[in-house]
Amino acid sequence: MNDTFLKACRGEAVDYTPIWIMRQAGRYLPDYHKVRSKMTFLELCKTPERAAEVTLQPVDIIGVDAAILFSDILVTLDAMGMELTFKEKQGPVLPSPIKSQADLDKLIDPDPMDKLGYVMDTISLLRKELNVPLIGFCGAPFTLSTYAIEGGSSKAFWNTKKMMYQAPELYHNLMKKITASLITYLKAQVEAGAQALQVFDSWAGSLSPGDFSEFALPYVQDIITALKPSGVPLIYFANNCAGLLDLTPKSGADVLGLDWRVDIPKAIDAFGDDIAIQGNLDPISLLLPEDKLEKRIASIVERGKKAHGHIFNLGHGILPETPPEKAKFVVDAVHRLSKR
Ligand code: CP3
Repeated sequence: MNDTFLKACRGEAVDYTPIWIMRQAGRYLPDYHKVRSKMTFLELCKTPERAAEVTLQPVDIIGVDAAILFSDILVTLDAMGMELTFKEKQGPVLPSPIKSQADLDKLIDPDPMDKLGYVMDTISLLRKELNVPLIGFCGAPFTLSTYAIEGGSSKAFWNTKKMMYQAPELYHNLMKKITASLITYLKAQVEAGAQALQVFDSWAGSLSPGDFSEFALPYVQDIITALKPSGVPLIYFANNCAGLLDLTPKSGADVLGLDWRVDIPKAIDAFGDDIAIQGNLDPISLLLPEDKLEKRIASIVERGKKAHGHIFNLGHGILPETPPEKAKFVVDAVHRLSKR
């Protein structure tokens, strides 16, 4: 097995900088559309053979050094009993958002083997096929709470912040319940064969440092503490984290993901000597001509060499309009430019 990705997560010496891409299995690949055209997105997540097939596509087509399980962060809320649909062009919709303790009391603490068994089946199938490590994942409690409270995607997260400020006990109860189910879910993923775990905190950057410390970070710490004994590398990606650089290391994660707004040397200064970094090319730069794109890649590769470990990635998910050849160009360029 190619274990360069796992070595970089642990800060061990590598022959080249490994790369994977957030949302690498998805809509920029014509092969994904072929599978997806036959079923809805959630059906695809819940059909292990097909979910495994689309997980493998970017490994075969663009040559990344790790696979990420094909699923979604919102399947946890679905398993907890919240109704969930994905509407074309609108994204996720949860028609009965959490507004009260009574709403919260209706949510269950799901047995992952029962409610999320399809994820474990996908992981088992993948481990038989893959020759690169498999990353499992979940959404961070704060990011999941925004979907549970807003009922879908949001720009300003007003209802979430209103609950934090006006009903902090209810908000903390929700966070505790989400965190408990995430911990059993991630443990089950490792048991099934996941070799690293990423916690996606897509909307962490919408919080002030004080609110992040009080309402979000303690629950990420709980997850990291609970999963440490599993021994797999733990990656925490807080998107838009430039204002939180002195706080995200307190998560206890082995690797911290960086979005493109952060200068890598500043992150290395803030994180110290024993945290690896992951990132951080702006996804839009994949639309640049190759010479300009290559300069940006080279700069990130060079800066990353000074980190405890560096896994190349984009600063957020790859855009659906990206030509697959450009994604392959990035993978090949990272490998070529980083060769030790
Ligand atoms: O990275 C991968 O390749 C693995 C699969 C994966 C998906 N979603 C597939 C997906 C992962 C890791 C996610 C995580 C996810 N889901 C996040 C965190 C990462 C991030 O982007 O910040 C979030 C916030 C979600 C919630 C979500 N899922 C939204 C808001 C949407 C709709 C908007 C959009 O991007 O389409 C989704 C749908 C979704 N998740 C798709 C895919 C491939 C598109 C579904 C389709 O085929 O129509």
